[in-house]
Amino acid sequence: RSTQFFDFKVQVTRITKLCNTKDIVTINGMYPGPVVYAQEDDKVAVKVTNESPHNITIHWHGVRQKLSCWYDGPSYITQCPIQPGQSFTYEFTLVKQKGTLLWHAHSSWLRGTVYGAIVVYPKTGVSYPFKPPYEEHIIILGEYWLKDLVQLEHDVLSSGGSPPLADAFTINGSPGPNYNCSTNDTYKLDVIPGKTYLLRIINAALNMENFFAVANHNLTIVEADGEYTKPLTVNQIMLGPGQTINSLITTDQQIGRYSISMGPYMSAKNVSFQNISSIGYIQYSGFSSNMLPLISPLPTFNDTLTTKTVMDGLRSLGPIDVPREIDADLFITVGLNVEKCTSRTPSQNCKGVKGGVMAASMNNITFISPNISLLEAYYRKVNGYFTYDFPGVPLKNYDFVNQAPNNVPNDTQSIIGTRTKIIEYGSKVQIILQDTGTVTTENHPIHLHGYSFYVVGHGEGNYNPQNVSFNLVDPPYLNTIGVPVGGWAAIRFVADNPGAWFMHCHLEVHMSWGLSVVLIVKNGQGKQETLPRPPPNLPRCLIWSSASKY
Ligand code: C2O
Repeated sequence: RSTQFFDFKVQVTRITKLCNTKDIVTINGMYPGPVVYAQEDDKVAVKVTNESPHNITIHWHGVRQKLSCWYDGPSYITQCPIQPGQSFTYEFTLVKQKGTLLWHAHSSWLRGTVYGAIVVYPKTGVSYPFKPPYEEHIIILGEYWLKDLVQLEHDVLSSGGSPPLADAFTINGSPGPNYNCSTNDTYKLDVIPGKTYLLRIINAALNMENFFAVANHNLTIVEADGEYTKPLTVNQIMLGPGQTINSLITTDQQIGRYSISMGPYMSAKNVSFQNISSIGYIQYSGFSSNMLPLISPLPTFNDTLTTKTVMDGLRSLGPIDVPREIDADLFITVGLNVEKCTSRTPSQNCKGVKGGVMAASMNNITFISPNISLLEAYYRKVNGYFTYDFPGVPLKNYDFVNQAPNNVPNDTQSIIGTRTKIIEYGSKVQIILQDTGTVTTENHPIHLHGYSFYVVGHGEGNYNPQNVSFNLVDPPYLNTIGVPVGGWAAIRFVADNPGAWFMHCHLEVHMSWGLSVVLIVKNGQGKQETLPRPPPNLPRCLIWSSASKY
C-alpha cells in the first residue's frame, strides 16, 4: 500500500474566455484542476493550502472514506472551511475503489471552477475486465459563467428565482466553436484509426444535467461512478453533475473529424430553451483541414427517454452483495417548493415564484447548513446546532397509490431545519427517493457521501410497493442517482461506515435551496467499526474557537 502525495494551492487565477478576462478560483492555476492519480487501495494525501480570499473545502466525490469521515470535505458538515492563509491535509485510503471519480470544492458555489478528475487504476498486476484500451482520456464537462461565482450565488439566492443558463458549456474547460472567441479554445482529441480508446467522462457542471455524444461513434459503457458495469452500448448518454461514466470508443469510421458534444438535459416542465451545446473534436490522424467536421445533434433538451435507456440498461459486472432483508426503511420525497418570505429571508425581495422564494426539501424539510462542523458537534456532543428528528417518511401524508407527484406536498411551505437521521451501525438500509414538488417535478441527481449504493429499482410515477420488483441480482453500484422526473428510485446499502454523511441533490442551486439531509451512522462495537478521533489540524470555525465547551 503506497501513499500518493499531492499539493493543492487554492489560487486566484486570471483567465480569458468568451472574449472576457476575469479572475477565477483554481487549484495550482489550472482549469480544470490537476488529476489525482492513484491505484486501488492506495493512500492519498492532499495538502490544500488556501492562497485565495475565500473559505474553501475540497470533497472527494465517490471516495467512500472508510473510517475517515473527517476528510470527506463538505463545509459545515464534516469540517469547517479552510480559511484564507490556512492549510489542511486530506488523508484517505481508496479501499476497494476503482475507475473515475472527481474532486471538487464543497463550499459556496466555488466548485463551478474548482474541480478535477480522480483516476484510480487497478492494483499492480490486475487488469481491466475489458480489452486494454489503446489510450485513456479524461473528458470533464462543465459550465462557465462570466459573472464571479460568489456573486452569481448571491444574486441567484437573493432573487428568489432560478439561476440563469451558464454563459458557456465546456469540455475540459473549453467552450468550443459554438461560442464567441472560442474557435481556438476547443478540446481536440487526436486518434488513430482502428483503435479502442477509454473515455473517462465526468460531469462537473454546477447546475445542469448534460447529454454527451460522439458523432458516428457508439459509446460502450464499462464503468459508472467508479464501478465496473456489464458493457452497455449506446449512442448518447446523460450524466447528472457528480456522475462519471467510463466508456470505450472504437475509431472505426472514415478518416475525418467528428464532434464530441455536450449540452443540457432539462426535465422540468415550463422550462424551455433553444438546444445549445459545447463541442470538441475527435480527429483521426491523416484528416485534412479542408474536411468539414461531422457534427451530430444531441437529444432535445427534454428528452427523458435517452436518460431512461441508460438507466434501464446499466448492470453491475459483479460480484455484488445486495442487502436482502432491510433494517432501516426510509421513504424520502425530493423536490422543489416555494417558501413564503419569512424572517429567514429578509434580504430577499420575494419576487420569485408565487411571490415567495424557491426552496427545496426532502420529506418537507428544507435543510439549513449549520455554522459549525456538524460532525464535530456530534462527536463532541455539543447540543444546539442540529436535531435528530429527520422524518423517515414525508411529513405530509403521502398516498402511495393515488397521489400525483405534483400534488405532494400540497402546501407550498416546507419546514426549515438542520435535521439529521440516525442510522444504527451495520443496518441494511433501503431508501426510496420519490420525486415530487409543488413547482415542478424534475430529475434530481441525488448524491450520497461515504457510500456507494445499489440502485435496485426505479420507475415512473409514484412508488407503489405492491407493484415493484427489484433487481437484487446485478443492480448498478453508484454514488449519484438521477431520480427520474416525476418518478422514483430505490437504493440499498449496508451502513458500515460511521460518520455524518451528506445526501443531497448535486444541482448546486437545489442544494442551496435545501435539498439535503445528513445521515448519521453510529459507531459499531469494534475498533474497525468506530470513527477515529478528529485530526489535530482540522480547521476550526471562528464561532467555536471561543466557545467554552470546545
Ligand atoms: Cu459531489 Cu456533496 O458532493
